Amino acid sequence: MKLAARVGRITPSPTLAMTATAKAMAAQGLDVVDFSSGEPDFDTPDPVKAAAEAAIRAGFTKYTPSSGIDELRQAIIDKLQGEHGLRYEKSQILVSCGAKHSLYNLAEALLEAGDEVIIPTPYWVSYADQALLNDATPVLLPTHESNGYAIDADDLRRLVTPRTKAIIINSPCNPTGATYNRNTLEAIADIAIRHKLLIISDEIYEKVLYDDATHVSIATLSAEVAAQTVIINGVSKAYAMTGWRIGYAAGPKDLLTAMANIQSQSTSSPCSISQKAAVAALRLGQPFTEKMVAEFDRRRKVMIGRLNTMPGVTCRMPTGAFYAFPNISGVLGRTAPTGIIRTPHELAQYLLKDFHVAVVPGEPFGSHQHIRLSYATSMESIERGMDRVATAFGKLTA
Ligand SMILES: Cc1ncc(COP(=O)(O)O)c(C=O)c1O
Repeated sequence: MKLAARVGRITPSPTLAMTATAKAMAAQGLDVVDFSSGEPDFDTPDPVKAAAEAAIRAGFTKYTPSSGIDELRQAIIDKLQGEHGLRYEKSQILVSCGAKHSLYNLAEALLEAGDEVIIPTPYWVSYADQALLNDATPVLLPTHESNGYAIDADDLRRLVTPRTKAIIINSPCNPTGATYNRNTLEAIADIAIRHKLLIISDEIYEKVLYDDATHVSIATLSAEVAAQTVIINGVSKAYAMTGWRIGYAAGPKDLLTAMANIQSQSTSSPCSISQKAAVAALRLGQPFTEKMVAEFDRRRKVMIGRLNTMPGVTCRMPTGAFYAFPNISGVLGRTAPTGIIRTPHELAQYLLKDFHVAVVPGEPFGSHQHIRLSYATSMESIERGMDRVATAFGKLTA
């Protein structure tokens, strides 16, 4: 069958693929330590589950308005106003089946052939493929480990062309764990305003912060910046609700209306029950997330501490999200019993096949020097997995 050309431009999500392989190996009875999964290991909070149960019992099991129920859109408006002082009308809020779906609706509404989207790299795997699926060109903006993956304004300026439509920022960042400070955001906003670029601000990890890191939503810099920004967020990470599939976008009315129209002709509304659950999550307040993040913090220190003791490995301390992104370039070129390990991909295969540890190689994030490990898993798994990784690296010979 002759498929659409766009399908040939993309690959399946490598993080989901690695997690699926790890789960399949575990189902065969193998003892796999899974560091590949991008989701909190915490259970969804009880009040959220109770809201979903109540929705089922009340028969709230039918189609809802395609853009999401009023109650949830209002809860999102209240959150954005309460936490950031940002004001939106309901017509500027679209609830979708996860933040990934929000981003996809946005890509479809915004991009066409010839358009360019600037993506700071390392980047979350789906940004580039979603642009490619919509005939646009991802333009990668390199950032560097040595300065905490900060965006250099001059580098950004150099990449802007008359075809540039948008820049995607993701702070805290998956996979690097870096967070952008106000100065960096101001520099990005200046360039975006001057060149009339849309700022796509993926804030899904906004509540997963460590040490003295803070989250500043770029839309709060000024009304002018807010008018050129789409905020993407959701309940997956902050409330341990990855399976409920609720994300949202907030931004300029014309763009949000176009995204809503696309959604109404494609998926229709997200799940009615999950929407009620998301209302309960957004009304929960901070205690659940704070407790979870405090636990991630403990695990972060253990995992990054262990990685930094391994010869050939260096790992920055992330200030947000829940990923370690160690530089393993010192390990590449060494020889395993099965052959030379030349790339992060080959290293990930070696760890998975010979030591039953699942990690995600750096290539799909735009790095040929890193692997990504999630520490949103139990301390016991972290200790066991780190033992195996240390043994695996110890077996490599120069
Ligand atoms: C940076 C980033 N954005 C968006 C998403 C999508 O989140 P969801 O679709 O579960 O809301 C993820 C999930 O891993 C992510 O890491």
